[in-house]
Amino acid sequence: MEDQAEKLREIMRKRGETQEKPQKTWDKKKSRIITVTSGKGGVGKTNVSINMAIVYARLGKKVVVMDADLGLANVNIMLDLAPKHTLVNVMRREKTMKEILMESEYGISIVGGVSGISKVADLTDEERKHFIQELSTLSYADIIIVDTSAGVSKNVLDFIAAADDVIIVTTPEPTALTDAYALTKIIHSELMEHMELDLKLVVNRTKNAEEAKKIAERITGIATQFMNIKIEYLGFIYDDPIVSHAVMYQKPFTVIDPRSKAATCVQHIVERMERMTPRHTGGGFSMLIKRIFNRT
Ligand SMILES: Nc1ncnc2c1ncn2[C@@H]1O[C@H](COP(=O)(O)OP(=O)(O)OP(=O)(O)O)[C@@H](O)[C@H]1O
Ligand SMILES: [Mg+2]
Repeated sequence: MEDQAEKLREIMRKRGETQEKPQKTWDKKKSRIITVTSGKGGVGKTNVSINMAIVYARLGKKVVVMDADLGLANVNIMLDLAPKHTLVNVMRREKTMKEILMESEYGISIVGGVSGISKVADLTDEERKHFIQELSTLSYADIIIVDTSAGVSKNVLDFIAAADDVIIVTTPEPTALTDAYALTKIIHSELMEHMELDLKLVVNRTKNAEEAKKIAERITGIATQFMNIKIEYLGFIYDDPIVSHAVMYQKPFTVIDPRSKAATCVQHIVERMERMTPRHTGGGFSMLIKRIFNRT
């Protein structure tokens, strides 16, 4: 009898283990989640996101760009794509993840309406489980780049908490620098007391490498001195007229001219990222969902 009871317990234990598995999909994932953010708006996040994605794709990576901007859907406009459906449709069970993925002609896939993910808090347990399962189909991607809104909304902090790498974009403008610092302070106080995060800095729209380096040293120096945190300087991007041309033509500048100054810089940034193995410090999408739930 005892033997049978033990067998039964063993079966139950095994069931328990298998039941837990779907929840852990994201924890086991190999996708590198890169969240691109900034203090001030208009400093180049969307351009950095899209063009990094294209360079990654050229390296043979499977790349998904998630448009998590609260405002207008910038990513698809820059790629001249018209989204028919977004993540919100997946949440409502109207579409599957596969159906809403927009394939661009540049070998990267786009998911729109990602800021709507906070609506997950309104779902029933069953709906949420289904949504998480759908979301986990994205784990096929090697790289997931999340393009966020500027500033420090709860939404943005959630995407930062989920990231393996957080790229803070700034320009040399004093206002952009102040806002980048303010953002870092909030990331530090809101998140970094509970978790490790890999913060990285990109200085966009610079005249030259020296100017960018000086700015990076200022920000990274202040972060070390006052918050005791390390921000890795990832690189700079020249102020280059090709960027606004590319936006006008709705084609990424790395496609229009891969040898342009701006494109070469993005290539260097990706190469540098590739040399740093992600520590997977971010909580992934399971953390994202957890945070949204705990807030309600
Ligand atoms: N390296 C650059 N050289 C020249 N112009 C640039 C560069 N980077 C960005 N810009 C200009 O800044 C504009 C804003 O860039 P982008 O939309 O990528 O910023 P953003 O941070 O995503 O803005 P938002 O906060 O509104 O989402 C571009 O349309 C372009 O005109
Ligand atoms: Mg943008």
